Amino acid sequence: MCGIVGYIGKRQAYPVLIKGLKRLEYRGYDSAGVALITESSGLQVYKTKGKVADLEKYTDGKDVTGTIGIAHTRWATHGEPNSTNAHPHISASGQLAIIHNGIIENYAVLKDQLMEKGVEFRSDTDTEVLVQLIDYIRTKKNVDLLTSVRMALRMVIGAYALAIIDKDNPDQIIAARQSSPLVVGIGDGEFFLGSDASPIVEYTDKVVYLDDQDIAVINRNSDHVEFVNVNNEKIDHEIKKINLNLSQIEKGGYPHFMLKEIFEQPQCLMDCMRGRVNVDLNNVVLSAVIDYRKELINARRFIIVACGTSWHAGLIGKQLIENFCQIPVEVEYASEFRYSNPVIDNRDVVIAISQSGETADTLAAVELAKKRGAFIFGICNAIGSSIPRATNTGSYIHVGPEIGVASTKAFTGQVTVLTMLSLAIAKARGTIENHEYETLVRELNAIPEKQKQLLDECNEKIHEIAKIFTYARNFLYLGRGYNYPVALEGALKLKEISYIHAEGYPAAEMKHGPIALIDEEMPVVVVATKNALYEKLMSNIQEIKARKGRVIAIVSKDDDKVRELADEYIELPKTLECLEPLLATIPLQLMAYYIAVAKGKDVDQPRNLAKSVTVE
Ligand code: G6P
Repeated sequence: MCGIVGYIGKRQAYPVLIKGLKRLEYRGYDSAGVALITESSGLQVYKTKGKVADLEKYTDGKDVTGTIGIAHTRWATHGEPNSTNAHPHISASGQLAIIHNGIIENYAVLKDQLMEKGVEFRSDTDTEVLVQLIDYIRTKKNVDLLTSVRMALRMVIGAYALAIIDKDNPDQIIAARQSSPLVVGIGDGEFFLGSDASPIVEYTDKVVYLDDQDIAVINRNSDHVEFVNVNNEKIDHEIKKINLNLSQIEKGGYPHFMLKEIFEQPQCLMDCMRGRVNVDLNNVVLSAVIDYRKELINARRFIIVACGTSWHAGLIGKQLIENFCQIPVEVEYASEFRYSNPVIDNRDVVIAISQSGETADTLAAVELAKKRGAFIFGICNAIGSSIPRATNTGSYIHVGPEIGVASTKAFTGQVTVLTMLSLAIAKARGTIENHEYETLVRELNAIPEKQKQLLDECNEKIHEIAKIFTYARNFLYLGRGYNYPVALEGALKLKEISYIHAEGYPAAEMKHGPIALIDEEMPVVVVATKNALYEKLMSNIQEIKARKGRVIAIVSKDDDKVRELADEYIELPKTLECLEPLLATIPLQLMAYYIAVAKGKDVDQPRNLAKSVTVE
C-alpha cells in the first residue's frame, strides 16, 4: 500500500512530486524517495527512512532539478523500513529507476534466477527484483524499455502499480497496473501519475484510471498517453473529468485531518443524502435500487463483505436490512470470505463496503462472489476505484476524500447509505409501514443538524474527559443492538491512534469474561441510550460500578438514571434507535482523538497502519 507519484512536462518535477507524496502519505509512511533525471547530473535518487518531511530535509542542498521524476512513500511489506529498502530502486547497471506499490509474489524464484545469472542485489525488497528483471531483459535481448517491461510483467505474479524511468531517456515514463490503483493525469504538455487523483487535482482535471494489465507509455512531446497490454495490443481509454477540489484534501485550519473529518460529518451526510432523501416527497431514492430493483428486492440473502471500520458499518447494515426488509443478512470479514468456500448463487446479493475501494481482501471477496454468480453491490467512497468498477452497481457515500488513517466520516457515510438502501428496498418490497417509513425519512434527514448540535455540545467536555483517562492501559467499550458495532468502532479508533488496548463487547457478554478485568483502573465506555434495552444496560453499569470500574456513559438527553451512576457522561440528541450509531459514534471518535493527542501520538499517521490496504 504505498503511494506513487510521477511527473513529466515543462515544470520542475521535484516540488510536484513532494507535494504529491504528502497527499499520498496516508497510504504508508515508513520511508520516502524520489528519482529525477537532472539537467546537470543525470539520474539522481534520494531516499530515506521516515516521512516525506525527512526526505525534504535529506535533499536539502542537493541537486533536485529536472522536469521528469518519480517518487514513492512506502508501507513496508518485504524488507524492514530502512533507507536501502526505500524506493525508488535502481537496476544494477544504474540505468533504470522504479517505484512500485504492491507485492511481487514470485519474487524469490525470480531473484534466485537472476542471481544465478550474476545479477547483484542491494535490498531485500520484491520491487528490486522487478527493476533488475526489466533491465536484464533489456540488455540481454537488446530491446527498448517498453518491450522489456512487457516481457518482465508476463513473468511476474502479484500486484503492482509501477512507474519506471531510464537514465538515458528523460522524455519517457512507463507505468503499469495490476491490482493496485494508478491514475494518469493529462495536462497541457505535461503528464502526472498518482496512486489516486489527489496529487494531480491542482494541475488538471483530466485523468485516466488504468485497468488491470494496462501499461501506459508517457512521452514528453506527445499530446496523449498510449496504453497497451503486455501483448502490445493497443487499449483505448476514455478521459474522465475529476470532481475534486483542493480544499477537500487540505486541513482547512484544523490541527489534524482526523479532527477536520470528524467535524465535517454533518456536511458529509448532507452530501451523501443530497438528491436521495427527500422529506417533502417523503421518499428515499437510490438510483441503483431503481436500476436493479428486481435483483435487490428479490434477493434471497445479502452477504456483506468488508474489513476494519467498513466491517463495523456492515454489522449495522445487517440489523437495518433484516429489520426493515426482512431479508437475512450475513456479515463476513472479506479476508476470511475470500478463502472460504461460500455457498452462494445468483439469488444472493453481496454488498462490498470499502472507503478506499481498493482493499485487496474486499476486492478478492467481490471477485469470488462474482464467479459464483452473486449480484454485487458496492458501497465505496473513492470514485472510480477498483471495487466500484468490479461491482454490478452500488452507491457512493460521497463524503469527500478521507485522509486521516483512522476512518471517521466514511463510517457514518457508509451507515447512511446502508440506511437509505434498507429503506428503499423495504419500501419496494412492502415490508415497512408507511408511517414508520415517513418517520425514518424525516429523522434521517434531521441527523446532520443533530450531529452539529452534538459536536458543539460535546467537543470541549470530551477534551477534558480525555485528559483524565490518558493513564489507562486498557479500555472496554460496551453497547447493545445497533450500538454494539458502535462499541467495536469506538474501541478500534482508540487502539489505532493511541495504542491503548481496547475491546468492544456486546454489553450482556461482559459477564462471560471481560468482567474479570474490571478494577478501579479500568475505564468502561458504555453506550447506554434510552431505548428498549436501557434497563438492561443499567444493570451492566451497576455490575461495573460494583467492581469499582470507571464508567464513561453515552446517554440520551432525557436520561435520568445512567448519568447518576456514571463517572462521566456525554448526552446525545434524541433520535430513533436505528439511527443512534450516526450520533453515538461521534463522541467515541473525539475521545480517541483527544486521548491520542494528549499522549503525543501521530494521530493522522499512526504507526504500522495505512489507509489503503492493497496487500493481503
Ligand atoms: C485499513 C484502514 C481502516 C479501514 C480498513 C478497510 O485498515 O486503516 O481505517 O477501515 O483498512 O478499508 P476500506 O478502504 O476497505 O474501507
